[in-house]
Amino acid sequence: MDIKVDTTSPEKLRTGVLVLGVFADGQLPAPARVVDEAAKGKLSSVIGRGDLDAAAGDSLLLHDVPGTAAERVLLVSLGKRNALGDRAFRDALGSAAKTLAGGVAREAGVALGSLELPSRTPAWRAEQAARLLADGAYRFDAPGTTRSATAARERGARKISLLIGNEAAGAGIDGAVRRGLAVADGMALTKDLGNLGGNICNPAYLAQTSEALGKEFGFEVEVLERADMEKLGMGSALSVGRASYWPCKFIVMHYRGGPTSAKPIVLVGKGLTFDTGGISLKPGADMDEMKYDMSGGGSVIGLFKTVARLALPLNIVGIVPAVENMLGGNASRPGDVVTSMSGQTTEILNTDAEGRLALCDAMTYAERFEPACVIDVATLTGACIIALGTVASGLFANDDALAAELLACGTDSGDRAWHMPLFDEYQAQLKSNFADMSNIGGRPAGAVTAACFLARFANAYKWAHLDIAGTASVSGDAKGATGRPVPLLAEFLVRRAEGRTG
Ligand code: BES
Ligand code: MN
Ligand code: ZN
Repeated sequence: MDIKVDTTSPEKLRTGVLVLGVFADGQLPAPARVVDEAAKGKLSSVIGRGDLDAAAGDSLLLHDVPGTAAERVLLVSLGKRNALGDRAFRDALGSAAKTLAGGVAREAGVALGSLELPSRTPAWRAEQAARLLADGAYRFDAPGTTRSATAARERGARKISLLIGNEAAGAGIDGAVRRGLAVADGMALTKDLGNLGGNICNPAYLAQTSEALGKEFGFEVEVLERADMEKLGMGSALSVGRASYWPCKFIVMHYRGGPTSAKPIVLVGKGLTFDTGGISLKPGADMDEMKYDMSGGGSVIGLFKTVARLALPLNIVGIVPAVENMLGGNASRPGDVVTSMSGQTTEILNTDAEGRLALCDAMTYAERFEPACVIDVATLTGACIIALGTVASGLFANDDALAAELLACGTDSGDRAWHMPLFDEYQAQLKSNFADMSNIGGRPAGAVTAACFLARFANAYKWAHLDIAGTASVSGDAKGATGRPVPLLAEFLVRRAEGRTG
């Protein structure tokens, strides 16, 4: 996808589709007004007839609008003028992106990036617009399928001019577009890894993808094998992958963009390439979606692509324990006690609460990097979906400043999280008669007790945990990976790189 900033007046742009935002209640924003004047009131008369719905994101495609150089004009509703905010802006761009991705026009001009939003800068609008337009064009081509792949590839706008007013040009706009595209690129890799089935995207595939990325961008990637994990004492993580045909891989990526003395930010991603539940087998319905259980790890790998493309001046370590939770004669059983790398023991009461067992050893391994902070990303609990649905990721932290920073990055990127408690009282639910802790805390507050389990391994550093069970993928007709929380964490890393917080 090629997106460039352009200061051409919208009516003069020679292109396949010109995208214009319009309010549901009269008065046109500047770009639409200019086109309406050139078209002798054609736009206002169409809108006046009521064909365009008031809801932000509704759209109407017009052909051969007089006075314009574009072949088509796509009107996108921005909702009510006084309700214009981040959400309407994103809905309008998301809808435009979808129409452009499915249309025949190969080139488009989008005048949505120039809309005045309360308390948002031109650079913010340009970054969001670039990301949403590029992300909206994402398509998953399953390897080896013939299903309309070529036909689909021949549709969609590949070249987009982001129309902005002269007054907004400069002011870091090109950098903002570059950031938006790099985030969308990281999301696309994350989505590809998620959408692939567990037969292809197995632990070795995640390791190979990381290694190839490291080669392409010049960062170091280590892959620890089962024997290495045994030597390190990772009895907890290894217990999860025991019964899988695919051997466990423990992936460690080192991006060194900052001074040697700068402490690294460590990102840990749950890399369960498939979660059957193990001996505590999951029900059959929708079990295919457990291919998405590596989405935390996939997002860490995707973020490394974003970061490397932007050459951020930071040191970052990415850790992905990549394992498959299978059944078999060799599988863990309820009642087994395992010893983690930290020395703490866990009684496995449910083999389906495996994510925390894999993550805790990665969190102990992270200590050796003396991190500035550790953020883990995991499709950890169904309970988090019950708590927050698919709108926000669950955010837990042992440091309030880090939590506040991540919350703000969620709001600004539109990839939101919500702060959940880690009160000590919840720890009692993890009591075991046979080990330091059990791996389940019962039904009440399931997302919290899972985070409390992880907190026991985070005493050496500032730590935050994102439970992305509800946000990493969508079910139903639009089933697929979302690429979240790449936008949130990219925002976090960009801010840290600019020294704005932390
Ligand atoms: N990977 C699942 C969590 C999950 C469920 C993610 C649904 C996305 C959609 C995790 O490993 C799991 O099975 N958690 C259990 C924990 C329980 C046994 C304490 C759960 O949430 O049911
Ligand atoms: Mn599970
Ligand atoms: Zn899982």
